[in-house]
Amino acid sequence: MTMAIKRAYIFLGPPGAGKGTQAKRIAKLCGVPHLSTGDMMRDAVARGTDLGKIVGPIMQRGELVSDDLVMKMVDQRLAQPDCSRGCLFDGFPRTLPQAEGLDAILQRLGFGKPVVVDLAVSDDKLLRRLTGRRTCSVGGEIYNVYDLPPKVAGICDHDGGKLVQRADDTAEIVGQRLAAYEKATKPLTEYYRSQGVLHVVDASLSMDEVSRALGEIVKRAEG
Ligand code: AP5
Repeated sequence: MTMAIKRAYIFLGPPGAGKGTQAKRIAKLCGVPHLSTGDMMRDAVARGTDLGKIVGPIMQRGELVSDDLVMKMVDQRLAQPDCSRGCLFDGFPRTLPQAEGLDAILQRLGFGKPVVVDLAVSDDKLLRRLTGRRTCSVGGEIYNVYDLPPKVAGICDHDGGKLVQRADDTAEIVGQRLAAYEKATKPLTEYYRSQGVLHVVDASLSMDEVSRALGEIVKRAEG
């Protein structure tokens, strides 16, 4: 599917809602890059950059990284040529200043109105999803030891990479991440609803059912 208007898709939702899982599928469907601020920062931590040294301990505590750092990172990423036809944000924006900052950037770069989807899931499902998550250390493929296990334990089906558990996926840090979501990010649903651009998807359904619902939203948006 090719996008006629330069458009940003934004996936909101609590930790473990399935933003990353669905963003990989839907970005492919739309032919736009998947921009995960969490992945960008984990990459900076793994490479030991100056940014990584600052954000690593913050992420490890399950707190939010400062708006200034996040906005600078996103602004630089959006200037890359692969974003010329649009992009899909996963885990960004996460605060009101980030949402307002993004509005200004999108306007400056000539994007149309964003399409925002809230992936809604009850808290009781999230802990199981997060503590069961394993991610491929090579290609980033996402698994779940309970609901989406690899064929061979600990090994990625696609590229044979080692599956690892994220450092912030412990029960204690998940609690902190959920609290940060409730306080800073949940209010964004009202922000985008008042702009008339919010869609809500029941993300407690199966991965394929959620993908189908998202595919319908994309189809309607692209006309
Ligand atoms: P980030 O990496 O963005 O993490 P998050 O928002 O906490 O979200 P997750 O990646 O944990 O969950 P997800 O919704 O992507 O779920 P997934 O698809 O993997 O952020 C990490 C940290 O970085 C933050 O805490 C903060 O410190 C910092 N940060 C990042 N962005 C920031 C920003 N903008 N501002 C400030 N700080 C920022 O799925 C989870 C599991 O569930 C998987 O195992 C999957 O297989 C399974 N699953 C998915 N869908 C389903 C389904 N439908 N049914 C059953 N299982 C499912």
